[in-house]
Amino acid sequence: MLGLSGLFSGDMAIDLGTANTLVYMRGKGIVLNEPSVVAYHVKNGKKEVLTVGDGAKMMLGRTPGSIQTIRPMSEGVIADFDVAEAMIKHFIRKIHKRTTFSKPKIIVCVPHGATPVEKRAIRQSVISAGARKAGLIAEPVAAAIGAGMPIAEPTGSMVVDIGGGTTEVAVLSLADIVYARSVRVGGDRMDDAIVAYLRRKQNILVGESTAERIKTSIGTARMPDDGRGSSAQIRGRDLLNGVPKEIEVNQAQVAEALAEPVQHICEAVMVALESTPPDLAADIVDRGVMLTGGGALLGDLDLALREQTGLPISVAEDSLHCVALGTGKALEFEKQLLHVIDFES
Ligand SMILES: Nc1ncnc2c1ncn2[C@@H]1O[C@H](COP(=O)(O)OP(=O)(O)OP(=O)(O)O)[C@@H](O)[C@H]1O
Ligand SMILES: [Mg+2]
Repeated sequence: MLGLSGLFSGDMAIDLGTANTLVYMRGKGIVLNEPSVVAYHVKNGKKEVLTVGDGAKMMLGRTPGSIQTIRPMSEGVIADFDVAEAMIKHFIRKIHKRTTFSKPKIIVCVPHGATPVEKRAIRQSVISAGARKAGLIAEPVAAAIGAGMPIAEPTGSMVVDIGGGTTEVAVLSLADIVYARSVRVGGDRMDDAIVAYLRRKQNILVGESTAERIKTSIGTARMPDDGRGSSAQIRGRDLLNGVPKEIEVNQAQVAEALAEPVQHICEAVMVALESTPPDLAADIVDRGVMLTGGGALLGDLDLALREQTGLPISVAEDSLHCVALGTGKALEFEKQLLHVIDFES
């Protein structure tokens, strides 16, 4: 049985994502899952935090001049340190309200390609947000653990984490990274591609939130068999006369809009396979590739990847939570997984 200290130690694992921040608490699981967005009130040139997370995301693209919404994470790393720190503090305090604990130990996942400077900055943000000790874990390792892959075995496993900012492709064996590469293609680029397509082909301007809604509702990586697929009604501004307009968008159009980002993801997988030592590559051909992250939920992405790479592809259960769950597991099984956590400063 877990002792009280184990249950309420307050130790946390954080997935600080470009799109979403998730917090896992030891003994409890995921206790927070909110967009990585901070809204500021700008008064006399001074910024004051107005709201963070869900509330701030609703304001994106809808703010008056006195309010600013900022996404502190970009392409997987901290783009704005002060804002990121404010966000981490806010989330920790929010959880703090519900539980009492002393200064927690916190493990945060970082992109494989994060520089030493970026890693130090993340560590410092967490310490100054109230942690006693800060550990880092590489995001692909966390994603693979969270997806339940057998990373400790002497077998090649390939995980592809498609987040908001980046897609990280990694090959793991014996609980370590054999190959990893991050490409700057993820959900955000898909949203941009939809905005650009509608502007170019339909003369209609939509905001990023609308583009994201189109993607998550009818988005697909593959041309529908009937050449059209299902459709959705969307609203935007008619670029010819400047007035709001409603049009119908179908899945074939979305597939066309998303062809380029999808192609980039396929290429990243192929490059990874080519760069992997032959025996490990053979394991991957046998066992397939695991997709994690929110982008893995794009309709038929698994099929498109299978067609273009010839590899067996599976989508992880709970793909949006894999990294947080894997980081949480590293926290729970710290002793066994110590070699994948970096507590150095
Ligand atoms: N059903 C869906 N279809 C397509 N995309 C989706 C779906 N659900 C969520 N997404 C996208 O997934 C992305 C968020 O995924 P995730 O939470 O894994 O990213 P993140 O971890 O915050 O980003 P990163 O890992 O790049 O820092 C968003 O771009 C979101 O629009
Ligand atoms: Mg992520």
